[in-house]
Amino acid sequence: MEALEAILTRRSIRQYTSQSVTDDTVMELLKAAMSAPTAGNEPWHFVVIKDRTTLDAVPKFHVHSQMLKQAQVAIAVCGDPAVETLKGRWLMDCAAATENILIAANGLGLGACWVGIYPVEERIQALRDLLGIPGNVIPLCMVSIGYPAEKKGPSARFRPELVHRAKW
Ligand SMILES: Cc1cc2nc3c(=O)[nH]c(=O)nc-3n(C[C@H](O)[C@H](O)[C@H](O)COP(=O)(O)O)c2cc1C
Repeated sequence: MEALEAILTRRSIRQYTSQSVTDDTVMELLKAAMSAPTAGNEPWHFVVIKDRTTLDAVPKFHVHSQMLKQAQVAIAVCGDPAVETLKGRWLMDCAAATENILIAANGLGLGACWVGIYPVEERIQALRDLLGIPGNVIPLCMVSIGYPAEKKGPSARFRPELVHRAKW
């Protein structure tokens, strides 16, 4: 799929088939993640989760993560503020990496959804405990991934009135 098409047709997909996602495909998603722009010295870490028990544990502390029960794999995107060259940039770098995963997933024919963790303190701590993430590392989000069992059209959120030309 061409890049612009992958961006314009990306939607949050929360229902997945039982088809497994290969390690090679996950590797493509991780390469896409780490191709994101970085202002903070690549402050990211990624936890790849395929274990069913672990995936099923997240909805117990995060009500909006039920799709993980069907997901074949999830990637937790984490930031390490300690390696940042510029303070606070981990958040933007990790968000850019997350969006790259979502677009790449769509381009590869997968369905994916951003599962928010940061800045909800209880979710951050619960995910740290579940995945053994060190206390200095902040999980920004998870991305649930699988082959889509639902179809959605493009979001059509373009609103010309939000665009200001030359001046506000
Ligand atoms: C920061 C952030 C956190 C999100 N957290 C969740 C979440 O916890 N659960 C969920 O189902 N969707 C989550 N989403 C996905 C949004 O609900 C979704 O992007 C929005 O409804 C627009 O739909 P679309 O992605 O299909 O265009 C999150 C999106 C962002 C950007």
